[in-house]
Amino acid sequence: MANPTLLILAGDGIGPEVMGQVVRIIDWFGDKRDLAFDVDHDLVGGAAYDKHGTPLHDDTMAKALAADAVLLGAVGGPKYDALDFSVKPERGLLRLRKEMDLFSNLRPAQCFDALADFSSLKKDLVAGLDIMIVRELTSGVYFGEPRGIFEEGNERVGINTQRYTESEIDRVARSAFELARRRGNKVCSMEKANVMESGILWREVVQKVHDEDYPDVELSHMYADNGAMQLVRAPKQFDVIVTDNLFGDILSDCAAMLTGSLGMLPSASLGAPNADGRPKALYEPVHGSAPDIAGQGKANPIACILSFAMALRYSFDQGDEAARLEKAVEQVLADGARTADLMGPEGGSPISTSEMGDAILAALDASL
Ligand code: NAD
Ligand code: IPM
Ligand code: MN
Repeated sequence: MANPTLLILAGDGIGPEVMGQVVRIIDWFGDKRDLAFDVDHDLVGGAAYDKHGTPLHDDTMAKALAADAVLLGAVGGPKYDALDFSVKPERGLLRLRKEMDLFSNLRPAQCFDALADFSSLKKDLVAGLDIMIVRELTSGVYFGEPRGIFEEGNERVGINTQRYTESEIDRVARSAFELARRRGNKVCSMEKANVMESGILWREVVQKVHDEDYPDVELSHMYADNGAMQLVRAPKQFDVIVTDNLFGDILSDCAAMLTGSLGMLPSASLGAPNADGRPKALYEPVHGSAPDIAGQGKANPIACILSFAMALRYSFDQGDEAARLEKAVEQVLADGARTADLMGPEGGSPISTSEMGDAILAALDASL
């Protein structure tokens, strides 16, 4: 049987640095676990703009649609800040999400024991934390029309539109309930139904999906501002959080700090299953291109590596191999391997991006 295909879009800033470590790990699985992938590389974001004048070439889009899974590093950076909005690096990523119809973005926030002291919260609040934020990714204010900057009288007005259809809410709610059944069986849905009609509809549809098809899952609703507060007050009260595109963006960065560093948080963006049962999928770290540390070998590759673990689990039905990789990460952290973002209050001497890759590969070898 042909090998499954992976399209790697390393992108900008620290994207290629962290993805370099993932490529080593992909090779390891091919060599040592007989789990070979056909890997293709292409450009996205500023790197694609520099070559093609667009942050995502049509050919790359076509390759992404054809691949069994896409792995993405990060896009963006100050070099591109002044570009016209339509060709900004971030538009490349948004196009991928939209055209692949990746409506369910899984952002797990797990606190590894070895890092419980590194969170900005007290250790007992985060030790053992394991929550999953399900962010709607293809609609809402990111894509709603009308949008733009328009003349209005003698001044300009900037417009974005929060828009959700019932079916868009329905499908992401279902993905959250399905996940909850395989975890702690609890979903908390977050919106602002107190001030937004789209929030009222969100709440109604999530409740309906629950009552009709998932009555066994415990469901609660929370206003998203309270949700942000609760995430830092008592994060372990949550299991699965389902929320819209913009709230999910913000709440997941917030959740990242519960785990010790934004450099730790992976994500899976999933669409509807294809004929072979495999969902359209893109895997990427939650963090961005980190221009402040790019090119210095300082970036933590773990978020990107754990994103590949999610690919093994969600695209390739290799849950055991995903767990092997996650355990290897846990092991190196327990052994004290720390990139600069994981220095914590006591300080210490950080290792580089590639040294973290070395340590994880050694732990993988030791797992055999
Ligand atoms: P960022 O996530 O790039 O960085 C925020 C802070 O976290 C920085 O101090 C950075 O050094 C640190 N950080 C992030 N990832 C790290 C890692 N792996 N290891 C160690 N430290 C890490 O967010 P930003 O600075 O707001 O945005 C920079 C650029 O990235 C912008 O152009 C933004 O649009 C883009 N961005 C892209 C994505 C993506 O590609 N998915 C996500 C977020 C931001
Ligand atoms: C993320 C990022 C993106 C978003 C940007 C880069 C388009 O912040 O993936 O969290 O806002 O969705
Ligand atoms: Mn974000």
